[in-house]
Order: sequence, then C-alpha cells, then structure tokens
Amino acid sequence: MISAKILNQPMPANQSRQQVVCAEPPRQSPLIQNGLAGENHLTAKCVKLIETTYHNNCDSDYTEKISELTRCFNYRQNQDYFWSDPQHSLLYGTPLYAEATLAQRLALNHLSWFANYNYISNSETETVMYNQVTGSVFESLGGYELLTKELAMETKQEYEHIKAFRKVGLMSATALIGRTGLNALLKWNTYKLTLGHDKLPTYQYYGLRSLAKSVGGQGHRPHYSRYLEGIEKSHDFILKAPTVGMLGRSIGPSLPWQSFYSFSWGTGSPFMACQFYTVRMIANLYLKNMEHAIARYAKRLENAAAYVPAPTAISRYHFLDEAFHTTISKLLARDLYKLFPQPTAYEKLIANSVIYKMQTGTLGGLSAVLTHRYFPDDFTLFELLYQLFQSSVFGFTEAEAKHWMARCFCQEHDGLHLAASNRQRLLKALQDFFVDVDYLKAVNRHMGAMADRGEISAALAQNQKTFAQFFQRR
Ligand SMILES: [Fe+2]
Ligand SMILES: [Fe+2]
Repeated sequence: MISAKILNQPMPANQSRQQVVCAEPPRQSPLIQNGLAGENHLTAKCVKLIETTYHNNCDSDYTEKISELTRCFNYRQNQDYFWSDPQHSLLYGTPLYAEATLAQRLALNHLSWFANYNYISNSETETVMYNQVTGSVFESLGGYELLTKELAMETKQEYEHIKAFRKVGLMSATALIGRTGLNALLKWNTYKLTLGHDKLPTYQYYGLRSLAKSVGGQGHRPHYSRYLEGIEKSHDFILKAPTVGMLGRSIGPSLPWQSFYSFSWGTGSPFMACQFYTVRMIANLYLKNMEHAIARYAKRLENAAAYVPAPTAISRYHFLDEAFHTTISKLLARDLYKLFPQPTAYEKLIANSVIYKMQTGTLGGLSAVLTHRYFPDDFTLFELLYQLFQSSVFGFTEAEAKHWMARCFCQEHDGLHLAASNRQRLLKALQDFFVDVDYLKAVNRHMGAMADRGEISAALAQNQKTFAQFFQRR
C-alpha cells in the first residue's frame, strides 16, 4: 500500500540529520564482563556475533553514501535509465507492458521503486519504534550494552533510509504523475476512512498497558521498556495513529490491538523483547527477496563501467546496511531468547498470534501489478494506475484507463506467475528460518498459512471486487 499518511509525516527534526557515529566499543563484551560467556556454546556465539556485527557496522559507510545520494538526487539525471531489471517494473508481464514504449517502460520501472520503497519506509518506521521499545528492555536488563548500541545505530540508519525512500520516491512520482495525481492517492487513507479517528483514548491506552504488564508477570516489571516509560512520563502516546507497514497491515488498523502488541514487547520480559525480532526477520527476508536482485543489477552496471542510477545505488547500499540488521534479527529471534527464562503460555500465545497475523497479512496474497508484493492490491495501487494512465506518460482517456486497469488487475497474465514464483522463493526462505524457532506452533514453524494463500485465481477474484468498489467509491 502506498500510504497517504506517510506522505504527510515529516521526519523528526532532531533525528533526521543525525550522523551515524559509533561510540568506542568496550574492550570486553558486557556479556563476558558479567561472567556469562563460556557457560555454553550459545552464549559465546551470541557474544561473538554481536561484537563482529557491531564493529563491521561501525566501519561501514553505506548509510553515509545513501544520505549523500539522497541529498544530490535529481530525477532528470536518472530518468533515462532502468533502476532495476525490467522484471521489477510495475505492470511487468501484463499485456499493456508488452505494448509499452521505452519511455513508458522506464516510468513503470521508476514507479515500482516508488511503490515498493514507500511500503518499506512505512515498515522501517515501525522498526524505528520497536527497536527502541525492545532495545531499552535489553538496556535495563544490564549486560547487553553492545547489543543496545548496535540497535541504536540501526535505528539511526533506518531514519536515513526512510528519508532517502521518501525523498527519492516522492520526487520521482511527482515527476511522473504530477502533484494532482499524488494528492489523489491521499484520499485512500484506509485507516482514516474506516476509523474516523486516529488516536487511542487515554483510558484505553492505560488499560492496555496495565493488561500487558500484569499478564507479563510481576518479575518482568523492573525491566519495563525505558523508552515506553519515557513516553508515558511526557504524557504522550506510543502510537498516535495505526502504523501502515508490514506489521500494521498484518495486525490491522485497530489502534488498541497495535498498542497491545507494543506493550507486550516492551513489558520487560526478555523473551518478548527477543520475540519482536521474529517479526523483524520477516521484514528483513521480505526486503531481501526484492532488493538482492537490485544490488546485483547495480554490481553488473558497476562492473561494466556503466552509469549506476542514484536509486539503484541507494538500493544497493541499503541492501548492505540491512545485512547487518538481518544478522541481529536472526540472532535474537533464533538464539538469544534461549538464554532467558522459558516463555510462559501467555507469551507463546502472543508470539504465535503475531507470526500468524504476518502470514495472513503482509504475506497473505499476491499483487497483479507488482511482482514483489504479497498482499492483495488495494485502492491506493488502483488509484496510482488510474492517475498514471491519464497522465502524459500514457495519455489515456478515462474509458481507456478503466479498460486497461481491468485487463491488468483482473485477468490472468505472465506478471502474476512471476509474482507467484517470487512469493514461493520468499516462502522457502521463511520456512528455512522458522523451522528452528521451537516455541512456535507447526502452522508458524512451517509457514502453513502463507503456503495456503497466494493463489492466482484468488488474487484475480479479489481484484474484481476491488475494481468494482474502486469505481463505485471514487
Ligand atoms: Fe532500512
Ligand atoms: Fe533494517
């Protein structure tokens, strides 16, 4: 979904220009200082991997390169180049793509970057918050200083990534469909349409917080997220509106439900703090499934001494930054939690419920027009094509626009088969990862709910309904 809300959200002024600066790491790992290392192989593995990742991340300059490319970005300088393989393009594999001119194919390629990274930036906005919620739990536990620093560094990196995706994406989309076209996307802000409000009443906020804290158990309270505590002391709310990234889309637009999961991860249970990283790992693998090919494309251009478009280079450096984040997600989600007390039945329930929701949410379908999107096409994507078809890029009449939307969204074509095959590759990567997460039920360990979804016939049936509703409501 191309979020209208995110288009209007400014980057927090105090964080957006922060440099990613590494503090001098301690000579010994905090885990070693606390005498925990050597107790078993797992502890040693965790210590080593956190140290190595932190040092390598400190030594890298990918984020700085992304920031510089973003600062200098000019659409005109990049408009004549493909930013990724054509197979990544919006509408690839549809009958319209087969007839499109080179200029139109370039526009479709650039708009896929905009649409994909808009969704990634929405998801990384969620990551920024939950890195802080859980990072402050590890901080209050003591002995995890290096991990806390790594998570803080990742958060700063995400701010720079989000800024890059928004600026480059919006400048490109504005050049292609105009400001009017972009404004038309705003009206499909699903959450405002369905909820009518976007703030949790105070009594609900504190009710949910109490519930999460009390069910989490008395023993956890000393480690309650300092980040959450800080927000509460300033009489603010953790979520002012439902989030719209991979997590928000999966949990749904219910602010109470989204807040409940936030409190559960920050309640002070080390298990729950680690458990958030299973969700983050899904986002990491989702991203990798799309971005790895762009990184390879950039490398091919570089090897051929050809021009590497700025968005392509941003994708490549992002891929490299995210490799560090993926290592940490994997470690916390699959190993580190084993060093803490076993999860309670309640914690297992929460953990299983959120992985199931991710399977049926952000992983629960297929797009007919984007080959790397795995949930049903929504009104915002319909609007994007409606605007594009009537823009100077295609110059269609309203009737022609409607005709081609029906053919691309609602009839079988090669693009759907490519999307299904991309989704299958992601499913395999997720299955390989989750099979070792021992507290999950079989449906989550084997990604059974995702495997049961994503059929082309179901995507087409859903799109026929959405098509009718879109033209009724607009
Ligand atoms: Fe990122
Ligand atoms: Fe990340």
